[in-house]
Amino acid sequence: MARGSGGSGGGKPGGGRQAGAPGPRGLTERVKTARRRKPSSTAWLNRQLNDPYVREAQRLGYRSRAAFKLVQLDDRFSVLVPGARVADLGAAPGGWCQVAVQRVGPRGRVVGIDLVAVEPVAGAKLLVGNATEPDAVARLRAALGGAADAVLSDMANAATGHAGTDQARTMALAEAAAEVAAELLAPGGSFVVKVLQGPDEPQLFERLRRTFAHVRRVKPKASRADSKELYLVATGFKGD
Ligand SMILES: C[S@@+](CC[C@H](N)C(=O)[O-])C[C@H]1O[C@@H](n2cnc3c(N)ncnc32)[C@H](O)[C@@H]1O
Repeated sequence: MARGSGGSGGGKPGGGRQAGAPGPRGLTERVKTARRRKPSSTAWLNRQLNDPYVREAQRLGYRSRAAFKLVQLDDRFSVLVPGARVADLGAAPGGWCQVAVQRVGPRGRVVGIDLVAVEPVAGAKLLVGNATEPDAVARLRAALGGAADAVLSDMANAATGHAGTDQARTMALAEAAAEVAAELLAPGGSFVVKVLQGPDEPQLFERLRRTFAHVRRVKPKASRADSKELYLVATGFKGD
């Protein structure tokens, strides 16, 4: 996700207003010095330069354009309520943690975990580790000071370019995140997880329907239209 970074330190993002969908702007920027760059890298850079969410993330101090996906999901489902305890799985570079800290406020707690170290985010605790390992739940619970009100997972591996492989790997992470949520959530809690549309996704959807009061498939506007990415938003955890 580092390539999607909007770039800012541990300062307070968001400025004076909450960001939803940035306004459209003309596709005018072109990469100028592409002599030794691979065509795929040039295409990626052109897309970044002309992506309104990338620009808006930079303007507001969010570390990722992905921050807007959580903003849009939370605007609709209100999973980040003031005072909530939130676990963010796959937190680097920290965009979702920034949004969660803003929304749960000073009485809330936000703990992020990632395989790679995350630059400090003011108001969040950040753990380095594998969220799918057996010790992750205990570490998250200790850092949160109790059960979570919301578990978020934007976990993803680097894309291989092979659709079937990427779908299976993303779904394995989503399944593992669901295990964490089942162990970590307080009754009534919420779970938001990234999935890729494909053969394994309905199975997770059905599993969540058995353990949560409501489950929805959602494609936030900030999720690229040409990707198979979706988020499952499960609310009202039934507990044991
Ligand atoms: C799409 S990025 C997350 C972006 C983040 N939501 C943001 O807004 O900054 C996916 C992250 O998942 C992390 N990840 C993948 N597998 C993981 C695992 N098993 N445990 C923890 N983090 C993992 C990757 O290291 C990567 O940083």
